[in-house]
Amino acid sequence: MASRATPRRQPSRKGSMADVPKDLLGEIQRLEELFTVDTAKLKAITDHFVSELAKGLSKEGGSIPMNPTWCMGYPTGHEQGTFLALDMGGTNLRVCEINLPEEVGEFDIIQSKYRMPEELKTGTGEELWGYVADCLQQFIEYHHEGENLDNLPLGFTFSYPATQEYINHGVLQRWTKGFDISGVEGEDVVPQFEAALKERGLPIKLTALINDTTGTLIASNYTDQEMRIGCIFGTGCNAAYMEHCGEVGKLAHMNLDPDQEIAINCEWGAFDNEHQVLPRTPYDVIIDKDSPRPGQQTFEKMIAGLYLGELFRLVLVDLHSKADVKIFEGQDISKLQKPYSLDASVLSDIENDPYENLQETHDAFKSHLSIECTKPELELIRRLTELIGTRSARLSACGVAAICKKKGYKTAHVGADGSVFNKYPHFKARGAQALKEILDWEKDREGKRLGRGHDPVEILPAEDGSGVGAALIAALTLKRVQEGNV
Ligand code: GLC
Repeated sequence: MASRATPRRQPSRKGSMADVPKDLLGEIQRLEELFTVDTAKLKAITDHFVSELAKGLSKEGGSIPMNPTWCMGYPTGHEQGTFLALDMGGTNLRVCEINLPEEVGEFDIIQSKYRMPEELKTGTGEELWGYVADCLQQFIEYHHEGENLDNLPLGFTFSYPATQEYINHGVLQRWTKGFDISGVEGEDVVPQFEAALKERGLPIKLTALINDTTGTLIASNYTDQEMRIGCIFGTGCNAAYMEHCGEVGKLAHMNLDPDQEIAINCEWGAFDNEHQVLPRTPYDVIIDKDSPRPGQQTFEKMIAGLYLGELFRLVLVDLHSKADVKIFEGQDISKLQKPYSLDASVLSDIENDPYENLQETHDAFKSHLSIECTKPELELIRRLTELIGTRSARLSACGVAAICKKKGYKTAHVGADGSVFNKYPHFKARGAQALKEILDWEKDREGKRLGRGHDPVEILPAEDGSGVGAALIAALTLKRVQEGNV
């Protein structure tokens, strides 16, 4: 399960680049310079990240939102009950029913997945909430026909930046991950969603509105108490961790116990929106400019799954447009010219293709894009995917290292979820390697001193945050309400 710091062996390159013509070789070198982030840069990014995390917590605020979530502390393992959980992700909508039994750290789950139709992402708030409520209704009719559900609490995982004054409230700061739905930004999403439930006569009360990273943190800590950070490396990229209220300047006016812990949803995708430290390429600039929210989510746009395929596509289109570079010569590249036509799974497949002949890559270009690639072109394509995938993993590690540095964690487990973390080849090993470089383990051999053969900070597969995590947070919230600690 653990992602070790030792990088996985890269496929052998015997007899390869020698055959690549000079123009393509020159481009490969240029791309290597553009996309490579060396150790010194990783460290500089991490240091800036640490100060930006602190700034986000202050009264004045910074560009990283650092949203207090009103999830106050970790679960004990003794949470009990039956809960509904709703997860509105970028691709799917998932409805779950979770039972937390008496046994510590256990759970049972039933769930249904519904596809989020593409057109919803640019439609109206009313259409969105109507669809979400319809899915919930279908789930309930299927599993609980004729039952009285009056008291079934719901944890709603809404994975976008929201300002919360309490846990069943959340004003959407802005859409991220390419969403552009009218009538929701700047509004509390809870009454909008509850109105749709009411219209359908659904007797369900939202107990907690949570972020996927907070859910991941709580669910992971439920089964492994060394878990200190919850991360999502998927369509978007973000993390949550526990902070002491005394460190959260923007909550100072509330006179909370300074030692009380509160989960902070960093929304670190917004890191470096002022372009001070990240090594942006001209391709990153285009992605931002052409996105529905230019100027936002600078860090996320360089590393998250939604953008990896687009980065790859933009580079290839650019190379094809250069008079002095011969790539896809005389071929019709109109299919490649369609924005967002390639997703991160295309890059995953290319990186998984045996280097010796890159046959699958050749066939995929032919069948999906009607482009017949030569061997040198295939080699450039493969190198480009490695560069984009490696940059994503190495920059992601800066965020994890920054939270560890801010909190003074010498050791920690980090629970991670999301399609890029789970499916992108070498992402885990590349991230672990970068953490090792940033945190200087090579120098002080801290990992060895622990005598476990593991890295001091390990990024591990997380427990299901938006199902189990949402249920646990709903349970913790109900307990606080019962105790009068609202
Ligand atoms: C985007 C969202 C954030 C979410 C992340 C991962 O960054 O703004 O709320 O946690 O994607 O899904």
